[in-house]
Amino acid sequence: MRYRRVKGATEKIERLREYLVAAPEELRGRWSREAFGNDHPLFLEMGCGKGKFVTELARRHPEYNYIGVEGQERVFLRAAQRAHEAGLKNVLFIGEFLQHPSDCFAKDEVSGLYLNFSDPWPKARHAKRRLTHRRYLEEYRRFLKPEGTVAFKTDNDDLFEFSVEEFREFGARILEISWDLHGSPLKAKEVTTEYEEKFREWGKTIKYLKASLEPEAGSQ
Ligand SMILES: C[S@@+](CC[C@H](N)C(=O)[O-])C[C@H]1O[C@@H](n2cnc3c(N)ncnc32)[C@H](O)[C@@H]1O
Repeated sequence: MRYRRVKGATEKIERLREYLVAAPEELRGRWSREAFGNDHPLFLEMGCGKGKFVTELARRHPEYNYIGVEGQERVFLRAAQRAHEAGLKNVLFIGEFLQHPSDCFAKDEVSGLYLNFSDPWPKARHAKRRLTHRRYLEEYRRFLKPEGTVAFKTDNDDLFEFSVEEFREFGARILEISWDLHGSPLKAKEVTTEYEEKFREWGKTIKYLKASLEPEAGSQ
């Protein structure tokens, strides 16, 4: 794997090898068949942290395949450990900061994408690093199925405002939106993330949107 080793990680990586993808670009276009050995729909979480959300989805939906992408070694090892302890067969982790996820996923390969509590990068000069920047939306559109969606949760008002604007400017169709997800009837509140739990304990409201990156037929 192409990441910096943290102390004591080598043995953990060895033990959790079945959950870690060493060369994700090589599986481009062949994920479900080669990495999972089936033809189930594939879902992706960018910046999955310690994996609470993606492993819970995998547990609830054995009929789908899941990939968590997480760049911090100490953190993705926690996620892989969680999948291992739950004995999950339908989740894998890419241990990298992916700048160009479309290098790893082919056209129409992914059925849905999750962005949960993405780093806000508050300085304007870092806007391009936000995972909801239009440059990332362009990446996601390259591999999402036409009916695929992007679901985004955050506690951060500025990032949410920025993101709504980016999705709109991009020509995305916003299908669901809430400035208080847990006060709403939306199903997206059912499976929570580590950060979501923490922010809720602190009394913060969670903002949420789900969008299709495909323009409505006839609107282009
Ligand atoms: C604020 S944390 C949220 C973690 C988790 N989604 C949650 O809600 O509990 C954001 C995570 O995204 C990871 N991350 C940010 N950009 C990434 C990228 N381009 N590729 C992979 N991981 C990324 C960071 O390392 C960090 O662990």
